[in-house]
Amino acid sequence: MWASAVLLVLLGSFGANALDNGLARTPPMGWLAWERFRCNVNCTADPKNCVSEKLFMEMADRLVEDGYKDAGYEYVNIDDCWMAKQRDANNKLYADPERFPSGIKGLADYMHKKGLKLGIYLDYGTKTCGGYPGSLDYLELDAKTIADWGVDMLKMDGCYADVKTMKTGYPQMTKYLNATGRPILFSCSWPDYERGAGIPINYTLVAENCNIWRNYVDIQDSWQSVLSIIDYYAKEQDTLVPVAGPGNFNDPDMLIIGDFSLSVEQAKAQMAMWAILAAPLLMSNDLRTITPEYRDILLNKDVIAISQDNAGIMGKRVLQDGPLLPQFVEAWTRPLADKKYAALFYSRSIKQPLNTNVTMKDLGLPDYKKGYMVTDVYAGKKMGFFGEKDRLLVKVNPSGVVLIKAEP
Ligand code: GLA
Repeated sequence: MWASAVLLVLLGSFGANALDNGLARTPPMGWLAWERFRCNVNCTADPKNCVSEKLFMEMADRLVEDGYKDAGYEYVNIDDCWMAKQRDANNKLYADPERFPSGIKGLADYMHKKGLKLGIYLDYGTKTCGGYPGSLDYLELDAKTIADWGVDMLKMDGCYADVKTMKTGYPQMTKYLNATGRPILFSCSWPDYERGAGIPINYTLVAENCNIWRNYVDIQDSWQSVLSIIDYYAKEQDTLVPVAGPGNFNDPDMLIIGDFSLSVEQAKAQMAMWAILAAPLLMSNDLRTITPEYRDILLNKDVIAISQDNAGIMGKRVLQDGPLLPQFVEAWTRPLADKKYAALFYSRSIKQPLNTNVTMKDLGLPDYKKGYMVTDVYAGKKMGFFGEKDRLLVKVNPSGVVLIKAEP
């Protein structure tokens, strides 16, 4: 009797502390300024590309008018360098008045009128990575401030901070966000900083307090960068897959599709891999100038459906370097709702397209005896029914992917 009462009290207090916003049941989708626009604050020299309300409004217009919103991209996220250089007389943060004349509240209203959501950036330490005011000592005030403005998502970075305190500091912020009563999707950089500092990461605690979280280094505009991120998730998959699920996702960072470096093959590969990883789909690109071939990849309904599968299970690498696949080709799978699967073949070859030839059993699909109906997702074509002995033949281009969907 007493024991169960104590348990109830404990559970109750746990419940009050954990993140309870009901958000991110599937990986969040939207746009985030950082990778493409960085800390460009010179609106005199570069009015079209500087971090200003105009940039976010223009991206919002493109999201709505060019089909992204209908495809599911709904968050428009500000990153670093939006603030005035210091807090106001009441210690409140405010946006740089020249670059954000409507203020963040005005910008949030703009997004909400269009059926979009606004995300913002804070830093847990004394300064943001770009040198703007940090939230240390002001966590509660800043949580209230962004809630009052109508912000819908918060990325909290961890520059200029004592990483050892993050295990208590980030959960503190979770409490303050809960207390505002406004559902604010919480994106935490905390585990990435612990990884960097060599501090053991408690992913159970992270998932109790954050909707999404960065695990690894920043993405840059290069295929090498995308590859190194994919490698990290493969290496850590036994730790990372179990902590992902509706409400909680690992974040391998932004989509750089439509920027300067990725070929069309590589862009398809990033999109498919992010769908397999159940990763947030936060584009960082210039939607005003993106070319149709890249836009089509970002808007591919069937790839997005895999990303947004409501079972919310993260996929993993299942085969690599023979004997079942040619050298340089690997296979990944992600379990989907209703016993379906997505599978991806990826080639690291820098030479010619390579042929693979595997059974459903080789891929580890559990119902291989009964067989699966297989679709090539990018080709938009049924490949047929594959029973126990049938081999799936696919040709994978250098740094390209073939993404399939298998239905029992
Ligand atoms: C860190 C983050 C990036 C970005 C910059 C901004 O490097 O990991 O995603 O927010 O700070 O300064």
